[in-house]
Formats: sequence, C-alpha cells, structure tokens
Amino acid sequence: MGKDYRQIIADTYASILSQENLGKVPDYIPEIACIDENKFGVSFTDLNGFNFGVGDFEEKFSIQSISKIFALSFTYEKLGEELWKRVDVEPSGTAFNSLVQLEADHGIPRNPFINAGALVICDVLLENCKNPKDEILLYIRELTDDESADFNEKVAASEMQNSFRNAAMANYMKSFGNIRSQPDAVIELYCHLCSIEMSCRQLSKSLLYLANGGKLPGSNKHIISLNKARRINAILLTCGFYDESGEFSFLVGLPGKSGVGGGIIALYPEHYCIAVWSPKLNPKGNSYRGMKFLQEFTMQTRESIF
Ligand code: DON
Repeated sequence: MGKDYRQIIADTYASILSQENLGKVPDYIPEIACIDENKFGVSFTDLNGFNFGVGDFEEKFSIQSISKIFALSFTYEKLGEELWKRVDVEPSGTAFNSLVQLEADHGIPRNPFINAGALVICDVLLENCKNPKDEILLYIRELTDDESADFNEKVAASEMQNSFRNAAMANYMKSFGNIRSQPDAVIELYCHLCSIEMSCRQLSKSLLYLANGGKLPGSNKHIISLNKARRINAILLTCGFYDESGEFSFLVGLPGKSGVGGGIIALYPEHYCIAVWSPKLNPKGNSYRGMKFLQEFTMQTRESIF
C-alpha cells in the first residue's frame, strides 16, 4: 500500500495555515506588491497522473524565477554541453541579483538560476530562436498540456522599468563578450519569462518530465535526454534557492526552485512533482510558507533523494 499523499498534504497544509505567516511580499515589482499575501496553494502530481491540490492551487500567479528552469532546459537541449562554456554549474552562495562574483569570474555566471546566468540563457535563446518568447510559451504549454500559461505584459513592463541591476549585469557581461545581443533585448526577454503566470496545478504537471528521466509522462515523448534531466536536477538541488540552497537541501532534500512571486516547486525523481505558492518571502527571497510546507511534507513522507 502506497503513502496517503492526499492525507499528508491536507494535514500539512492545515498545520502551516494555523501558524504565523511571516515574511514580506516584495515591493520592487508594483504589480506583485499588491497581491493578497494570504494566498496559499499546494498541488501534487505523480507520474501516474494522480493530482491532488489544496487551497489556492488553481489560481495563477507570477512564476518569476521558476521560469529559469524552462529556459535552461529548452536551451540545454538545443545547445548541448557547449552551453557550459558560457555559464557554470557552481552554487553562488550569493543573492539572486548579486553582481559581486562577475568580475573575478570574467563575466561567466556561477549558474543558470541566478539572474546573471538566466540573462546569459536569454542571450543564447535570442541567438538560436526566431521568436524565443513564442517558443518558450509553446514549450510550457506542451508540458502542461493546456494553452493557458501566458505572459503578464503589465508585470513584464513593470519589471523592465525596474531592471537597473539586471541591466548592469547584462552590460557588464557584454564587456566580456558573454552577452552577444543588445542588453536591452536580453532584458526584455528575461522580464517576459519572469512574468509568466501559471497555477500550482500547472506547475506541478509541467515539471514532471524532470522526475521522469526527461520524458513526458503518458506519451513518453523525450523533452530532454536522461543525462540532461539528471544534470538539471543536480543544479536545482545545489543552486535552486540562491544563498539558501544548502538550507533547502538540508531541510527538504529534493531538487527544487523558488521565485519571488512566492512559488516553489520540488520534485522527487521517479515519483512526483509538488508546487507550493504563498507570496510572503523570507529574507533570502524564498516563500516563507512554501519552505515550511515542504520541510514538513518531506518529514511526514520520509522521502528525499538522500
Ligand atoms: O528582479 C528580478 O530579476 C526578478 N524578477 C527575479 C525573479 C526571481 O524570482 C528571483 N528569485 N527568487
């Protein structure tokens, strides 16, 4: 008899809901600052297609940096190992928007999940796709098997107006030759990827291929190779939470990724993907309740990759 995930999720949700909701909604993106900070949703989908959700799991929110997974996976499959000449796979131990290591590292970002790395991935997309925005959206829609994931143009515009740090990074990396398009075009694409809106239910379905050796469950279509899926999971585990990646690995023990919209996804290879959304962030920029929920969830399931 398998585990009763439905019960564990319902109990864990109730327990976290009964505790204080600490943290702060980020105020630097006005369109996100006005969100109801008590939203809280969880969705679980396993490789057999079993889905269970609680709370606001069907409401769409800004997935922000979670989109960095789709951008990486799409680009890595296109370029192969060449990609790693332009972005490294080491944890940065710094904030997601930090510039501090770029000079010593000669414009090569530490990993694809910090902003500098995601900007390089966007630059690679611009070099290799006719219409990167459309192609990434189609990719996500195929992964979710529905057409509704979309950009929020207001969020994208509001991010572009506040992208001074990202502009600094893109320009600085261009001086090393590691950005090839115009920095403005790179930032425009990056802000659009951050603005994508999806629900927990869609997110928990869309990343199942990474729990399934790179194949879409059901059709078994290859999205990426097994080795590439394994490598993306390794980078998620070591770099998915910026300077809190060690903590997430320590407390939860699953590959995962957060976004400043309050979303977190985590996956248990060969089993399931789980998405949590709660907008208030801890000081490291990760969802306060999202972290707590996943810590408690894996304590109860006693499952992690370790
Ligand atoms: O300022 C930015 O670049 C953000 N919109 C980054 C998005 C994000 O989620 C980073 N991490 N938590």
